[in-house]
Amino acid sequence: MSPAPHTPRAARPPAPSGARIKSPALLLAESGADLEGHGLKRTMGLFQLVCFGVGAIVGTGIFVGLSDSVAEAGPAVVLSFVLAAITCVFTAFSFAELGGAIPVSGSSYSFAYATLGERVAFLVGWCLLLEYGVSVSAVAVGWSQYVNELLDSLVGLQVPAALSAGPGDGGVINLPAVLVVMMAATLLVRGIRESAGATAAMAVLKIGILVAFCAVAFTAFEDGNLSPFASHGMAGVTAGASVAFFSYIGFDAITTAGEEVRNPRRNIPIAIMICIGIVTLLYCAVALGAIGALGADAVSDKPAALSLVVDQVTGSSAGGGVIAFGAVVAIASVVLAVMYGQTRILMSMSRDGLVPRVFERVSPRTHTPVANTWIVAAVFALPAAFSSLDVVVNLTTIGTLATMAVVNIAVIALRRRNPELKRSFRVPLYPVSPVLGVGFCVYLMYGTGWTTWVQFAAFLAVGALVYSCYGRGRSRLVSSAATDPAGPVSPEA
Ligand code: ALA
Repeated sequence: MSPAPHTPRAARPPAPSGARIKSPALLLAESGADLEGHGLKRTMGLFQLVCFGVGAIVGTGIFVGLSDSVAEAGPAVVLSFVLAAITCVFTAFSFAELGGAIPVSGSSYSFAYATLGERVAFLVGWCLLLEYGVSVSAVAVGWSQYVNELLDSLVGLQVPAALSAGPGDGGVINLPAVLVVMMAATLLVRGIRESAGATAAMAVLKIGILVAFCAVAFTAFEDGNLSPFASHGMAGVTAGASVAFFSYIGFDAITTAGEEVRNPRRNIPIAIMICIGIVTLLYCAVALGAIGALGADAVSDKPAALSLVVDQVTGSSAGGGVIAFGAVVAIASVVLAVMYGQTRILMSMSRDGLVPRVFERVSPRTHTPVANTWIVAAVFALPAAFSSLDVVVNLTTIGTLATMAVVNIAVIALRRRNPELKRSFRVPLYPVSPVLGVGFCVYLMYGTGWTTWVQFAAFLAVGALVYSCYGRGRSRLVSSAATDPAGPVSPEA
């Protein structure tokens, strides 16, 4: 997935009027792909794809966010996880159909460009700044909690509260969070990413740590700690699901690897389903283990909650230290993966002319988008330093759910516009499944609360303004007829 070297942009023709849809054929041609896979390095098989997915999914959401979901839902947080998983499954069906029909990088941004047009695609790309960019900040803030826990168990010291949390969380500046963002950027500009082996090792480490946690927590399990079960009612379950949803974000990253997967039409849908299945089982087991051991109140709103549970169950800080070490490594890998995704999306948008060219420039020395990476790091280090975890998690969640709602709509649009396009996977019970997907996404968006909605509305308004004032006039999609012999939407890619 290393970015292609920079090529000079051709003279920009006048922007067209009317719908600006990039056909699946054009997307595939631009990606250098064809549906038979000629000329590509298709190196990832199903196992690697599942490891890639688990690696992108499991991070701050379960290690840190669990305590926030428990605060909302009580022991019924397991229902919150199931509700979040159902939302993901319906949307995963849609991702699977689109990823199998148009196996290119770019994820929901590309799918929206191929079905709903440039304006929607721009706004989806804009929302991906929340899903990826603000997510970098959120994951980094979570990382900071476990760094302190690890330091405490290793040397009995912690970074002072003022320097390890933003003002919203009772501190002044979160320096560990800034540190991990800068470390990730340094690795990315040097072209260091997880190799296939490291990705698999990381996935095994994450699953191993969570299974080990369950093994310890269930030794102290008491039924009584689960009652009252739905202590905050259905509203609590919904609010808990909105928080828990953050821990599923990342499964769509599988579709960003579309150009490097062997037999993508078969492997992408299967890998997405396997990943969601694995993490749902793990998350429910971890939640039951934590609450069954200590009770919901002892877990609610606690930093580094998984280490806390293990410390209390074992009566020593050694076990919690092991969990903290695993979390520090696991969460850092999510920061790396998510920041990589953000730079990749900005490169796609820059090549389309929708954001400034600086984002597509690749250093001839390192073959990486150096300026792009440092801009992303600098911009998203700010919320990491100064925001509270709740704010960045909620913004990430609402932005991701909005893009996922669009993906469900894109399935319907592609079926109508390109019914003949070859699809390896078709969503079951069409159109019920994508319609339910939209419904569940909106339902969980509702659970993020009105403050988040106001912030999101302001963010979208700025995005619409940027598109009107900048992106629309500079778009490289001249006219479908001029750029794509198959016309605006080709019947068969
Ligand atoms: N799902 C990712 C995490 O929990 C974003 O860190």
